[in-house]
Formats: sequence, structure tokens, C-alpha cells
Amino acid sequence: MYATLRLDPASTVSPVRRRTFGGFVEHMGRCVYTGIYEPGHPTADEHGFRRDVLDLVRELGVTVVRYPGGNFVSGYRWEDGVGPREQRPRRLDPAWRTIETNEFGLNEFMAWTRAAGIEPMMAVNLGTRGIQEAMDLLEYANHPGGTTLSDLRVAHGVPEPHGIRMWCLGNEMDGPWQLGHRTAEEYARIAAETARGLRQIDPDLELVACGSSGRVMPTFGAWERTVLEETYDLVDHVSAHAYYQLEGDDQASFLASSADMEAMVREVVAIADEVGARRGSDKRIHVSFDEWNVWYLDRVRAAAPDEWVEAPRLSEDAYTVLDAVVVGSLLITLLRASDRVHAACLAQLVNTISAIRTEPGGPAWRQSIFHPFSLTARHAAGDVLRPDLTAPTLDTAKHGTVPVLDAVATWDADSRRLAVFVVNRDPDEAVIFEVPLVAFGDARLAQATELADDDRFACNTQDEPDRVVPHAHPRAAVTDGALRAELAPASWSMFLVDVA
Ligand code: AHR
Repeated sequence: MYATLRLDPASTVSPVRRRTFGGFVEHMGRCVYTGIYEPGHPTADEHGFRRDVLDLVRELGVTVVRYPGGNFVSGYRWEDGVGPREQRPRRLDPAWRTIETNEFGLNEFMAWTRAAGIEPMMAVNLGTRGIQEAMDLLEYANHPGGTTLSDLRVAHGVPEPHGIRMWCLGNEMDGPWQLGHRTAEEYARIAAETARGLRQIDPDLELVACGSSGRVMPTFGAWERTVLEETYDLVDHVSAHAYYQLEGDDQASFLASSADMEAMVREVVAIADEVGARRGSDKRIHVSFDEWNVWYLDRVRAAAPDEWVEAPRLSEDAYTVLDAVVVGSLLITLLRASDRVHAACLAQLVNTISAIRTEPGGPAWRQSIFHPFSLTARHAAGDVLRPDLTAPTLDTAKHGTVPVLDAVATWDADSRRLAVFVVNRDPDEAVIFEVPLVAFGDARLAQATELADDDRFACNTQDEPDRVVPHAHPRAAVTDGALRAELAPASWSMFLVDVA
């Protein structure tokens, strides 16, 4: 099979948006406790943050991190997590049937984001709480001082306001599993009124309305329309969530998961633009794809704890090579949609559905999915180019007929570097891939990297943390004005090309 990707440095989709490389820290399982935070761990700093995890978070390249949930936020009282630790209440977290100690809360998270060098994305509880509590949280977090709530933050040892810009108006309010789940009409009203309240305090915030928690939701589409009709002038983004898993041995469908994500973005954008057009508005609503990953949800349900315990092991799947190829492909799709996807969060960061794994008191290591994410975050730069792909197709049971390749390229005019990211979705056949480079000038292959393995189900573990790592691409070259490579079945590749 042969495929060609034609690129033109003058034909761009949008600048690469750093927020595409977001992550997610939820009070779920061991993401926080014994994940990012473990006082007493040999690498812990003075705040109890694991330095080994901080190093991996920086290497992963996440730019913005959503917090504190997720389903958790819909039953969360933010006040529980601030002030003297010994006075913080222990609560039941019904979302994950867990005991929440509240040892880690808003101010700890903000200190952690500063240590990690990332931007926070804060979610408010619109499940069991409402407008007032959201406004109180904003005042506590962002107001400089001179009011009871802002002075309380100062009394809690945080003199400077946190300056959090991006706020999510609840989480997955379309889902019947969500505490305080609402109809689209009910959610649209509370989201609009909360947005008004928050904007009365600070008109410059960036606000995210809840979109659908999946394209499979029965209310998908109608939900977005109803919510945006009420909130169009009040919010900047609408959220989208999607998780994928290998079902049976249908590798072709799994490898084509990003076709579903691409359709979701296209459909959400079309609905948002329709609402905008009917209002005669020039404003564009963007997509915050603030939860996405491979997630073996069936296994979570099977392993749900019976007892209420602190920080149980939830969704600590070891990701395979195949999972990593799919994650690479999902990120390619998000990057290609950078004109409308302005933020995206790999869910989650540590231990739970995670790129990074830890053991309490023990080591931290990179899961297979860490690698395509970190390489893309590091090397995608400048502008996303409009890809013109000619490729054979692949028939899949779940996503219909899709191009066999998923590809995107970025061009950094300053460093004159082209970065090409490509996934061969075919589980069985290699693809001969060509990228003509004459439009760029004299080109040299600076780096070619592949993630593929004879054992697609190989994983990284505590004992073998580097079993799955990217390697030098064995079959790639730049010759006669073109990049040529043979893409192995079920593989992720990255090519960096320097142009004179
Ligand atoms: O990321 C895990 C869970 O997935 C989140 O809590 C929820 O928002 C989604 O359903």
C-alpha cells in the first residue's frame, strides 16, 4: 500500500496551541494521593509533592491541567480542602466510593502547578452546588484581598491571588451517573447564571460549558444546541469527552478510534456554528476536549471497591503498545483540529487511567502512552499545516471506512523544522509513505522515531519500566526531495525534517 501526504508551508490550519497538550488530575483512585502527592516518599519536597513524578510530568510536556474532577467535582465542597489540614473533614466521595481526606486541596494543587510549570483549569461543582459556591471559590482563589474570602486565603498562607483563568462549569452534567445530573434545559440555565455570576466578578475569565460526555450519549447534539442557545454569549468553549478501548480482538476498529473523535469535533463545531449563525453572531465557540484517552471502563466496573477506603487502586491499567498507537493517533486528530479545538486534556495524569504510574514509597515510571504524547508535545511547533492525504482506506466494524493513515504536520518557520506525525491504522499491512518536500526547500532528516513492537500487547511495568519505548525508525530517509518511510502495521511514527 502507498500513501502520500502533500504539505504546503503557506497552507495552515492554525498555530499549534500549547493547551492541546493538557492533562487531568482528579481526586480519583491514586491520582492525587500516592500519585502527585505523597509526604514521606523519598523524593517528596517540602509540600509532599513527589519530585520523581514532577520530573516525569515536565518530561511529558503537559501544559494545562484540569482539576479536581471529573465526577468527583459534582459532590465536592472546595472549602473542605483549604485551611489547616488537621481541621479538614473526612468525607465520603460517592462518585468513586472513596474516603476523601481533603489533605490535598485547592492551594496544594496551585502550588503543585507552579512547581510543575503548568496552567490550572478549574472545575466548579454544578451537581450538588450552584452559583454562589462557584462565585465564592472564584473570590477565594483570585481576588487579591480585602474581603472575607480573599483574606481567608491570605490567612491560609497564600498572599498572592491564584489568577486562575480557565473555569469549567461543572462536569458531564448530561450523564445520569453524575451527581446532580440535569436535563439540557436545566443545565443550560444554571451554567448561564453561573457564568454571569463569575463574569460579574471577572469579565476576562475563560469559561467552558459542559458538552456531551461522549458521542454515544442519546442526547448528543441536542444537548450542545440547548446549552449553547442559553450560554453562547457567556462562554468561550464547549467541552467534549471521549474514551476508547479495544473490544475483543477488533484491532482495526480500535486503531481507527480517532475517526470517532474527529466526527465528534466536526459535529460539535457544526452545532455551535449553527447556534451562532442563528444569532447573527461573529463569535466562535471552541472545543475544550478536556477528557480523552484509552480507558478499559469494563474493567473498572468489575473492580469497583466494596469498602469505603482512601485512595484505592482504580483503573490502573498497564497500557500496551497498541494503546499507545491509539493515543498517538487521537493526539494527531486533536492537533489537526487546532482551528477549533483550543484545549485538550489527556485523562488522567498519574496512576488512574494514566500516562505515569507510581508505587507508594516506590518508583514512578512511564506508561507506553507517555511516549507519543511527550514526543508530540515536545516537537509540534509553529503552525499546524493543512494536510492533503492520499491514502488507501481501511474497513472497520465500528467506524466504517477510514483512511489507513492518520497524519498531521507542523511547520516552525523560525527554526525551519517540519514535524510529521503519522499512525498506520492497518493492523496487518505496512504502508509506504511519502511526503514531497520541494515546497519547503533543501531538506534533511533530523530524526525519525517509531513506536511499534512485534508484541503489541507489551507494557511497561514496575519491573520492566522501559519495555515499551520509541526507537529509531528503521525504514525512513529523505532523498530526492521527499521523505519516504515504510510504516509498520499498527505503528506511530514521528519525522523531524530540517530545511535549509
Ligand atoms: O476520567 C474519569 C472519569 O471519566 C471522570 O471522572 C468523568 O468526568 C468521566 O466520565
